[in-house]
Amino acid sequence: MSGKYLIKDISRRLLGDMRGVLFDENAIEGRESEILYTVFRNIEIVEGKARYDITEIPARPAGEPAGNIGGEFNKTFGHYHKNGLPEVYEILEGHAYFLIQSPQNDPAEIKEAYIVEAEKNEKVVIPGNFGHLAINVGKETLKLANWMGFADYDYETYKKLHGGCYYVLDGGQTIEFEQNKNYKIVPELKKLKLKNSPALDELGIRNDKSHPIIDLKKHPEKLDWLAHPEKYRELLTIEKLYRKI
Ligand SMILES: [Fe+2]
Repeated sequence: MSGKYLIKDISRRLLGDMRGVLFDENAIEGRESEILYTVFRNIEIVEGKARYDITEIPARPAGEPAGNIGGEFNKTFGHYHKNGLPEVYEILEGHAYFLIQSPQNDPAEIKEAYIVEAEKNEKVVIPGNFGHLAINVGKETLKLANWMGFADYDYETYKKLHGGCYYVLDGGQTIEFEQNKNYKIVPELKKLKLKNSPALDELGIRNDKSHPIIDLKKHPEKLDWLAHPEKYRELLTIEKLYRKI
């Protein structure tokens, strides 16, 4: 494990930093220095296993028209994990859509793409081969906690392809999905929710409010799958962990 991961750090992503991954790049003109979201990294560190971060993504300001940023909701940049490690999120506050996508060999050819919906106290497990970004589709700040192994991020793939394989657009009363034309193959989007299941039990996760993921700190053996997913490959599948909604 490299020491660089052990530093407590607050990183703010400005609207200007989102250049390259937005549906409408013109929307950031003159708003480059607005803070889009904040990540508090390495709040907890469990040696050899995983680290715990919190991300805060504000909603569009009350009274502002829908589609705050060129039609889009506030969202995170999107990334893959370079070493294919999985991740688990919990919604501490708010209402999230996660866009998760798994490519074939060519990152522009997506094999599977899903919207995982999660509200307060619900969890999201990202299998290691899935790129992911979080979208605040609610009216309040979206606050996320996550455990992940000691992985490097790949942001470049999202930048090259101008974001995820879909843009999630705020239609005011509706949520719309716009295919990203920079991808060569984009599958139909399916909507999922994490389900309580024997597979989820084995990962030490329950999708309810009495099992916050911060508690995994007290049982470091339950974080093993985040560091050694190869031992848990048969559990870390969409079919085992999710139900369609
Ligand atoms: Fe991640």
